Amino acid sequence: LPRVRVDLPDASYAVEIGPRALAKLGPAARRAAPSRRVLLVSDANVYALYGARAVRHLRRSGLAVGVVGLPPGERTKRLATMAALYEAAAESGLDRGGAIVALGGGVVGDLAGFLAATYMRGVPVVQVPTTLLAQVDSSVGGKTGVDLDQGKNLVGAFHQPSAVLADTSTLATLPRREVACGAAELVKTAVLGDAKLFAAIEADVGKLLAAEPRTSARLVAHAVAIKARIVTADEREAGVRAHLNLGHTFGHAIESALGYRRLLHGEAVAIGMVLAGRLALRLGLFSERAAGRVEALLGRLGLPTRLPRGLRSDRIVARMVHDKKARAGRLRFVLPVRLGRVRVVERVSPRALRAVLRAAR
Ligand SMILES: NC(=O)c1ccc[n+]([C@@H]2O[C@H](COP(=O)([O-])OP(=O)(O)OC[C@H]3O[C@@H](n4cnc5c(N)ncnc54)[C@H](O)[C@@H]3O)[C@@H](O)[C@H]2O)c1
Repeated sequence: LPRVRVDLPDASYAVEIGPRALAKLGPAARRAAPSRRVLLVSDANVYALYGARAVRHLRRSGLAVGVVGLPPGERTKRLATMAALYEAAAESGLDRGGAIVALGGGVVGDLAGFLAATYMRGVPVVQVPTTLLAQVDSSVGGKTGVDLDQGKNLVGAFHQPSAVLADTSTLATLPRREVACGAAELVKTAVLGDAKLFAAIEADVGKLLAAEPRTSARLVAHAVAIKARIVTADEREAGVRAHLNLGHTFGHAIESALGYRRLLHGEAVAIGMVLAGRLALRLGLFSERAAGRVEALLGRLGLPTRLPRGLRSDRIVARMVHDKKARAGRLRFVLPVRLGRVRVVERVSPRALRAVLRAAR
């Protein structure tokens, strides 16, 4: 299996990636849970597909397993769910020597991670990501949390996993639209981190969309290595970790202006990356050719590259001003300067912004 290590001052863990990674769940959870108790958190879709297998691996390693199955979807990622999770953990007898297992996409990973960060002031979590987005991005790096009505991810904690098992054979059942969303984060990681990964995605669009497990494993491993490098350099997002927000200033504003309907997160990020590329082009930071390659690749992945009909530029700009990542009233953009390299740009005139948005219809 491809394996990437994440080495942090207070936490060091391996990310195992490949078609048989789930088979390692027993030993990984056993190492995390000296008291041999684990709570498996999943959502109903994922549990129906992979729950029995996961429980079998855990029991075979001598673990007592409690299970919580949550309703699928972003709406589940909120405080009311946390209350239910704390109670389920206590009810199942989970103690300080126990561990949480997160089996699912980013929603499950963020919830179960936050549970692990806070239950009994912190217990270990083993992340078993089953969406491409979670394998490429959310399961690694230790960000956990929930949404509020006022905004996404407003409550949370940093809590690094004790192991990550990204089984790429689970991607076979993922709806195609979700595969494309994960691919958007993969492209993001390539644009901000490594032109070679970008070329590798270009060469394997078909296999990636078909969720071919070995191709997915190779691309996921490459992206995780980039993310690991960034998280190691800046665990708490004081600097370079902000690069991972490429496409997200525009993307979040678009999602929020649409009331979180119509577009999935990865789709909004795809449009956000196109806009970031065009803004960079306008500011003389990025080449026409590279911007064109980014747009073409996102298009081939079946992702949107233009703004949804009827969405007005001034609404998007207003949302951006609201963005929690705007510091001291200033908008910050992560912009590509060439494939594999980005920088943070703070002084962008509203005129430039509107021109870029108008041209993206
Ligand atoms: N912590 C981080 O660093 C970080 C980074 C990026 C995104 N996120 C968060 O991740 C979340 C999005 O994650 P997501 O895109 O994985 O969404 P998700 O967890 O909602 O999963 C998407 C859908 O796919 C289903 N599913 C999952 N695995 C499946 C499989 N193998 N087969 C069939 N169906 C499957 C789920 O039930 C769900 O309906 C957001 O809440 C976002 O804020 C967190």
